[in-house]
Amino acid sequence: MGNDALSILDKRTQTTYEIPINKGTIRAMDLRQIKTGPDDFGLMTYDPAFMNTASCQSAITFIDGDKGILRYRGYPIDQLAEKCTFLEVAYLVLFGELPTESQLKEWVNGITYHTMLHETTKHFLEGFRYDAHPMGMLVSTVAALSTVYPEARNVHDPQNRKLQIMRLIGKMPTIAAYTYRHSLGYPYIYPDNDLSYAENFMNMLWKMVEPKYQANPVLARALDILFILHADHEQNCSANAMRAVGSSFADPYLSTAAAAAALSGPLHGGANEEVLKMLDVIGSKDKVPAYIEKVKAGQFKLMGFGHRVYKNYDPRAKIIKWAATNVFEVTGKNPKLEIALELERIALEDEYFVKRKLYPNVDFYSGIIYQAMGFKPEIFTVLFAIPRTAGWLAQWQELLMDPEQKIARPRQIYIGYGERDFVPIEQRGVAAAVTA
Ligand code: ACO
Repeated sequence: MGNDALSILDKRTQTTYEIPINKGTIRAMDLRQIKTGPDDFGLMTYDPAFMNTASCQSAITFIDGDKGILRYRGYPIDQLAEKCTFLEVAYLVLFGELPTESQLKEWVNGITYHTMLHETTKHFLEGFRYDAHPMGMLVSTVAALSTVYPEARNVHDPQNRKLQIMRLIGKMPTIAAYTYRHSLGYPYIYPDNDLSYAENFMNMLWKMVEPKYQANPVLARALDILFILHADHEQNCSANAMRAVGSSFADPYLSTAAAAAALSGPLHGGANEEVLKMLDVIGSKDKVPAYIEKVKAGQFKLMGFGHRVYKNYDPRAKIIKWAATNVFEVTGKNPKLEIALELERIALEDEYFVKRKLYPNVDFYSGIIYQAMGFKPEIFTVLFAIPRTAGWLAQWQELLMDPEQKIARPRQIYIGYGERDFVPIEQRGVAAAVTA
């Protein structure tokens, strides 16, 4: 073996092993040969929360968290945000190359063709309570599409996969808009196929009795840029859920529903809603220093700050801050911006945040823009799920085409009881019940 190897001396047996290093990684399975004897299972790694474990090889998204770099298929995120539409970027993320003019036309037509929901799916949505959280409605409705398109379970047929991908990307804004209209008690608006992806979404959200909805072009473009920024982010919590569920060959609707469920949590996509709640609690700029002190005392986290991968300014947050200027010219400034800017200013100078490399993440400013555009905080994570569907599906396709992948099944270190005899119910004490 050449120099690209790791020599491991097992002091238990005084045996040395040569483990190959490839792309800065050793294979965890290469450690299994390290045993103390024939009955030993072999060495495993222990990595709660996957802090240092690559679960796949991927060609979709590149992040350098220390340098603040994000690229889809090699293209820097700022160039894509400036020059592309979201559907163009979705094509790139999914199929590896920017589309030619004819490919783009076919792609956009395909997506547009699939924007409508089956009427029974609409009835399904009507069953939710008036105050149901939009993310719960979205997750359930996406899962319910699995019953409408049973052929989707044929996940090994590339043509079939492409059809379901177009359906999901086409229907996501429709479901999202309907969850919003449902919470307001408004009738659902059918898609308008003359409009762009973002404009049509706005149409389904906000059209009232006017015969044709006219989207504000600045807001539609800002929404499209936000969609581009959220299209993929490699192996985050929801992409990992998509791959884990998809690895059992569950259909793409059920896998996407699982990914969306993972996104809903406040430590992931749910953070944008939490940022707005936090800004409400702070109330005004002068209360920011006292709030920061409480964060430093460990009372709560500063929502929209910190990231597992970025130890530098999140490049998406930079672009969102820039896009906010255009939005505020149309909508007027969101008063919460002042509080957010002050939070950022103080946090970026504070030893606590500097030492831990905590910078604003994508969720810090997105909520402020969304609110200025007229969205309620409850729907922010749904807005995240629409574009991220492209990324989830790209991760899912890549997984299915990777000959090295198998059903995702981590190991554990068992720390529970050894074998013990069954205790009849009348002999069980209070202590046993409490520890159960
Ligand atoms: N506010 C205050 N302290 C923080 C924050 C924060 N937002 N984030 C991390 N820290 C502190 C931790 O308490 C820890 O301090 P310690 O070393 O003294 O114990 C240190 O920074 C490291 O934090 P970890 O929790 O180990 O970082 P991890 O990578 O596990 O977590 C996460 C990343 C979940 C994003 C975290 O920073 C967080 O909870 N942020 C707030 C929620 C948020 O904005 N999430 C959105 C992320 S972007 C996205 O998912 C789309």
